[in-house]
Amino acid sequence: MTGSRFAPVDFHAHILPGADHGSTSLETSLCQMKMARENGIDRIIATPHFYPTVHSVESFLDRRNRAYELLMSEHSDLPTVRLGAEVLLCNGIERLPGIEKLFLRGTNVLLLELPYSDFQIEYCYSVESFVKSGVDVILAHAERYPTENIEQIIEYGAKIQINAVSMHYFSKRRILRSWLERNLIVAIGSDIHGTDRHAYPYFVKAARKLGAHLDTVNDFSDKVFAQMN
Ligand SMILES: [Fe+2]
Repeated sequence: MTGSRFAPVDFHAHILPGADHGSTSLETSLCQMKMARENGIDRIIATPHFYPTVHSVESFLDRRNRAYELLMSEHSDLPTVRLGAEVLLCNGIERLPGIEKLFLRGTNVLLLELPYSDFQIEYCYSVESFVKSGVDVILAHAERYPTENIEQIIEYGAKIQINAVSMHYFSKRRILRSWLERNLIVAIGSDIHGTDRHAYPYFVKAARKLGAHLDTVNDFSDKVFAQMN
């Protein structure tokens, strides 16, 4: 255990210039980095959107790498950024050639977001298939979806990432508490898009609100971040 120290990893962020709509310019990304730094966040996993019906794995990786190199060409004092993806779940996603290249780089962790329309039982089967092959499936901002859908999908072994801002919504309190008590929440993210100046202050406050549960989040996030390259 880490003793509830306060140094969370931002597990979900859209901070690479031009990699997706989260940041359309280097200027925006540097502003995001500056806000993270000012709030004490020095480890960020960049998770641009991957839409299987729009992108090929190779074109996505090419765009992500170019965006990362552009950001790193800036010799400012930046937080440490590691590379991942937020992959949109669709039927059969586990059979997408090269899907493993979309895991958080250097790990067996896959950040999956659910579609907002029609939940399908096949999504559970995809998760089950990943989990059985040793992949850690993390559901991005699980609190945004109907609870019954998330409860169904976690039966198949998925864990949960929540967006920090949701810790401040009264309507989410009950379900977040339930997930925390079952140790299902293993990561928090800012899910920052653009120069939302509230994103990192909310992130910091949310981490504090996790209280004793911050250990669970830190233990998982620290381990994953340390594996990443
Ligand atoms: Fe996101």
